[in-house]
Amino acid sequence: MGEITNVNEYQAIAKEKLPKMAYDYYASGAEDQWTLAENRNAFSRILFRPRILIDVSKIDMTTTVLGFKISMPIMIAPTGLQKMAHPDGKQRSSHKALWTGRNMHDYWKGFQSVVKIRECATARAASAAGTIMTLSSGPTCSIEEVASTGPGIRFFQLYVYKDRNVVSQLVRRAERAGFKAIALTVDTPRLGRRESDIKNRPVLPPGLTLKNVEGLDLGKIDVANDSGLASLVAGQTDSTLSWKDVKWLQSITSMPILVKGVLTAEDARIVVQSGAAGIIVSNHGGRQLDYVPSTIMALEEVVKGAQGRVPVFLDGGVRRGTDVFKALALGAAGIFIGRPVVFSLASEGEAGVRKVLQMLRDEFELTMALSGCRSLSEITRNHIVTEWDAPR
Ligand code: FNR
Repeated sequence: MGEITNVNEYQAIAKEKLPKMAYDYYASGAEDQWTLAENRNAFSRILFRPRILIDVSKIDMTTTVLGFKISMPIMIAPTGLQKMAHPDGKQRSSHKALWTGRNMHDYWKGFQSVVKIRECATARAASAAGTIMTLSSGPTCSIEEVASTGPGIRFFQLYVYKDRNVVSQLVRRAERAGFKAIALTVDTPRLGRRESDIKNRPVLPPGLTLKNVEGLDLGKIDVANDSGLASLVAGQTDSTLSWKDVKWLQSITSMPILVKGVLTAEDARIVVQSGAAGIIVSNHGGRQLDYVPSTIMALEEVVKGAQGRVPVFLDGGVRRGTDVFKALALGAAGIFIGRPVVFSLASEGEAGVRKVLQMLRDEFELTMALSGCRSLSEITRNHIVTEWDAPR
């Protein structure tokens, strides 16, 4: 294969390299996967209205997120990498070495170290690009290891588990390790139905507990017969989570809180009232409720609901610099990418993530230049037209 020229190419490489179970876990969405596809398709229903004869010899893509200066409005979303362990041993490529001739417990330990290496690789790539990484609080999270990779602005994504002591402990660890904000995921009171995961049934090795995995006391859970690790985790997340818990979270941390998973103006207004610091418009990459709109279509309504009182970010389907521009034109303060990171990690490790960030940066810069925008503040709603706009 020749030089990789766009982010999408990493998906095909990852598909080749990864065990099917792992690839499916990364790539798939819920049920009919309508929202998953729509996250991409909706971007193609937005066209540009570029302005001409503007001196674009200097382009400034820098921005400030929650007071932190970053090099571009492109950041890394949390992606739990936990489900690559599989008991049937049908591992390929890089996993083969880990698996061959070992028992499941050794495999899992080896696997965990791979995940930690990957999270650290992502952290280093983000830091080198001058942007923010959000670390997932899935059971393979490695707060201290990620922090030890060196300087960098990092956010910590939080699932609220039933046991609030576990949550407090995680938040304290993140704060101590120098993480700058919490992204509170609110679209997962229960796990969406991802049918490939139901078919593949990835599970934790028998006898292992989340305590082993995470070093946190979630109690001993025999998962040998569980349908999958994600459902195990989902079983620990608290479906009673409500707005009062946002207040509780504020009471245990001084880190600003971004509410991740907002799709309506109604909820945007409540976020503002709750005192949270910002909103991430997200449908969990199409992995939770199917037939919710694409995030790019939901964005404008959420921005209106937020009334400029808190910044609004977006994730879901961003694969091109043009997508980044479109999101900013519709009012986003920045975007996050999920799958491009896991696919590029699987393909080329840290170098892959660096390349993804660089390609998106270059494409976004080019889009700004060709649209006549020299800084993010010059990107306006008038630079685009959407299929859902009234005729001019
Ligand atoms: C996710 N996502 C996610 N979100 C979250 O809040 N906590 C998590 O642990 C995970 N884990 C996770 C794993 C994998 C494999 C994927 C693909 C996604 C959702 C993620 O943060 C983000 O919302 C979407 O991935 C954004 O969409 P794209 O960029 O993948 O299209």
